[in-house]
Amino acid sequence: MQSNDNAGAAAGQWSSRFAFLMAAIGSSVGLGNIWKFPYMIGTGGGSAFMLVYLICVLAVGLPILIAELTLGRMGRQGPIETLVELGHRYSGRATWGLVGCVGVLAAVLILSFYSVVAGWSLAYIPKLLMGGMTGLSGAETGKAFDDFLADPLALTFWHALFMLLTIIPVARGIQSGIEKAVVWMMPLLFALLVVLCIYAGIEGDFTAGMVYLFKPDFGAVTWDVVLAATGQAFFSLSIGLGTMLAYGAYLPGGVSIPRTSVVIVFAAILTAVLAGAAIFPIVFANGLNPSEGPGLVFVTLTVAFGAMPGGAIFGAVFFVLLAIAALTSSVSLLEPIVAAFAGRVRLSRSALAWIGGIVAWVLGFLTLFSFNIWSDVHPFGGTRTWFDWIDFLTSNILLPLGGVMLALFAGWVVTRQDSVAAVGFESPFFYSLWRLLVRVVAPIGVVAAVVTNFF
Ligand code: PHE
Repeated sequence: MQSNDNAGAAAGQWSSRFAFLMAAIGSSVGLGNIWKFPYMIGTGGGSAFMLVYLICVLAVGLPILIAELTLGRMGRQGPIETLVELGHRYSGRATWGLVGCVGVLAAVLILSFYSVVAGWSLAYIPKLLMGGMTGLSGAETGKAFDDFLADPLALTFWHALFMLLTIIPVARGIQSGIEKAVVWMMPLLFALLVVLCIYAGIEGDFTAGMVYLFKPDFGAVTWDVVLAATGQAFFSLSIGLGTMLAYGAYLPGGVSIPRTSVVIVFAAILTAVLAGAAIFPIVFANGLNPSEGPGLVFVTLTVAFGAMPGGAIFGAVFFVLLAIAALTSSVSLLEPIVAAFAGRVRLSRSALAWIGGIVAWVLGFLTLFSFNIWSDVHPFGGTRTWFDWIDFLTSNILLPLGGVMLALFAGWVVTRQDSVAAVGFESPFFYSLWRLLVRVVAPIGVVAAVVTNFF
């Protein structure tokens, strides 16, 4: 019993539940799970990080994802409009729209660095294919990666190419552009990750890798770890900035949001764990440094590909798939930006996609130079480069706080009666649990994690 079924016609809808699911999984599974998660485990305390991440994803991320998709489907418009309208309806205030504005800012900032890193992945496709990485040791792949990062011109090319690949489907519209790619590429990516895990299990130091990932180490749980893991939970699920609001707006009324959300969360966790299980055994078997940082995936997996039969092909395919996983996420970053402005300004969808993409591309140079000519520039003191700041601001501040606002909105502002119908839990128990999580647990937990960071 959805109250807004008919309103969806104007906004367009996903052609099926499966298409929506693939797009939503495509959004959440991306560089965050395969590139960022493993290196954050490495720099953030190993299994302690893993533990907190899992708790955050289940207790905070899942309920907020449900809230965000529900609000999106209730509003059926761009993220800002949805919040303005629902804010009006339930509280008489349109200021809720500000949450959507902050989300758009976060989306532009994330897209800016996302495209740079996804560009690395594109660059690795020909590098592997042409056999340039075959038979290299860990130290050699590390050096190859450093040399690559030291060349701003090459990075600019790949950054531009990736942004172009993002703009085109968004400019063409949700169904014709986004859906087609995700439906068959995501399953392929999973399959390849499994192959890599098997390789790591045979050739790598599997036990050391597993211990590193899973042996509980409660002593290592500090507030820094908690905040980083919270931020990663939001980033990896694509919540807190309006992506899921925008995708929820195209969701047919009959689809169960709670069930779909569980599948999305499961896919995000699974990919992250598979990536970790593929990478760390190789790290330990080759004497590499687990806290290597953003280069971790590129350095470790190329060792594996370089050593296995047919590795040049496998490796190239892997980086193609990683780039595609990144693309289905970057598209979901550009989509809410376009949706936020469409109807507000007299520009076509396609023009907005180009403008949004170009703005993010230009901003991307802050990140691009952070790995070479500006690697010693620490804009606000301390040790953080521009990239570190943009990453910190978005993942650890903007997304968590945006997510909390959405949780509060869905939990306190929307009436109980309306939210029961809109969320669509089959069991009253799970509805009450969800409501408790979005009203109390998630807001308190997340605000505590963010605030303690300032002291
Ligand atoms: N979830 C994506 C990833 O893990 C990144 C993303 C964040 C996409 C926020 C959209 C919105 O790679």
